Amino acid sequence: MSKFSFTQASRTKARSRIALIGPSGSGKTYSALRIARGLAGPDGRIAVIDTEHGSASKYAGTVTDFDVLELDHHGPETYVQAIQAADAAGYDVLVIDSLSHAWSGRDGALEQVDNAAKRSRSGNSYAAWRDVTPKHNALIDAIVGCKCHVIATMRAKTEYVIEQVKGKSVPKKIGLAAVQRDGMEYEFDIVADMDLEHNMLVSKTRMPGIDGAVIALPGENFGATVGAWLNEGVDAPVNAPVRDGRAALEKSLDAIEHKHIEGNGNRDEDELPEPARTERAPEHWTPLIEGATDYADLRSVLGRIMRSPDSPRRFGALKACASALVGCASVDDLEALARDLAYIDKSAPHGKGVGAIETIVTDALAVLYEQAGEPVAVAS
Ligand SMILES: Nc1ncnc2c1ncn2[C@@H]1O[C@H](COP(=O)(O)OP(=O)(O)OP(=O)(O)O)[C@@H](O)[C@H]1O
Ligand SMILES: [Mg+2]
Repeated sequence: MSKFSFTQASRTKARSRIALIGPSGSGKTYSALRIARGLAGPDGRIAVIDTEHGSASKYAGTVTDFDVLELDHHGPETYVQAIQAADAAGYDVLVIDSLSHAWSGRDGALEQVDNAAKRSRSGNSYAAWRDVTPKHNALIDAIVGCKCHVIATMRAKTEYVIEQVKGKSVPKKIGLAAVQRDGMEYEFDIVADMDLEHNMLVSKTRMPGIDGAVIALPGENFGATVGAWLNEGVDAPVNAPVRDGRAALEKSLDAIEHKHIEGNGNRDEDELPEPARTERAPEHWTPLIEGATDYADLRSVLGRIMRSPDSPRRFGALKACASALVGCASVDDLEALARDLAYIDKSAPHGKGVGAIETIVTDALAVLYEQAGEPVAVAS
C-alpha cells in the first residue's frame, strides 16, 4: 500500500462532545437519542454503543432509527475499539450509553485495578493504576479525537444529607457527580444534569445562550441548535485577550515549579524507569503545545498533561501550556477553565498540581477584572 492515502476531510471543530449525567430513569438514553437526531439531521446516521443490555434498542424506531453495538465487557480498551469502529464507519453521531461502565462496569477500570491488586503480592492497587490509567486515558483520547459528534451518558452518584428545615430533619439530595473518574466532565464541551422529571440543566458549556439553561424533555431542537452553532463556525464570544495576565501567570508558575522541585529534591528524574521518563519529558508535550492553534486545542493539551503521571517535570509542561493558553484566552474562557478545574479531585494522581494551576487562572482573572475596573471577585 502506498504510504499516501486520502481520508475524508472533516471540520475538526464542528463536533460536539456532550455529557448527560443523571440517575436511573432521568432520561439519559431517551434524550441522548433525540439530541443525536437533532444533531445528525433527518438523514444523518447515528451509532449507539449500548452497555446496558439493549436498553437503547427499546427506543429504536419510536424515538429514532440508529445502529447499535452492544458491549458485554466494559474494559476501557473495548470502548476504544468500539469508538474507533464508529469513527471508521463514518457515523454522524455516536451515543455512548453508558460511559460509566468503563469505570465501574464488568472489567471496567475499577474492576481491572481490583483484580490486579488481588493478584499482586502486596495487594495494593497503586501499581495496578499504572497499567489501567493509560487505558483510561486512551479512552478519553478516542472520545476527544472521534470524528463523530459524541454524546456520552453517565450515571450520577447521588447522596443525601439531612437538613434542618423549620426544626425538622429533611433529607436533601446533593451532588450529581458522574460515576466516572473525577474530572471526566472536563473533557466535554457541554455537560448537563438530568433530573427525574426529565429536565436537563446545562451545567457547563461554552455555547452562548445555553449556560445554566433548564430544558424540559430535551430533544431534536436542542441537538439542532448545537449543530447550527457548530456549523456556523462561531467561536465562543471573545473578550479582550488576556495578554497582561501572562506575566502574572508566568511568575506564579515559576514560583510553584521552584517550590515543587525543591520539595522533591531527592526525586531524580534519572532514577525513574525508562517508559515513565519518556512520557514525563517536557519535550513530549512541546510539539502538541506548539502545534495548537487556538484556545480549544490548548485546552485539550492541558487536559492531557494533567492526566499524565505526576512529576516535577510535568510542571514545566503545564507552565508552557498554561502560558500559551492564557495568551489566547478570553475572560469567558478563563472563567470556564476555573470552573472546570474546581471539578477535579486534587488528591487524585492526575489532579496533582491542578490546585496550583487553578490559583494561577484565578489570579490571572483577578488581574483582568482589576484592569476592567470591576471588583476582584472570582467565581469558583
Ligand atoms: N427527553 C425526553 N423527552 C420525552 N420523554 C423523555 C425524555 N427523557 C426521558 N423521557 C421519558 O423517561 C423515560 C426514561 O428515560 P430513559 O430510559 O432515557 O432513562 P435513563 O436515564 O436512561 O435510565 P437508566 O439509567 O435506567 O438507563 C423514557 O422512557 C421516556 O418516557
Ligand atoms: Mg438508559
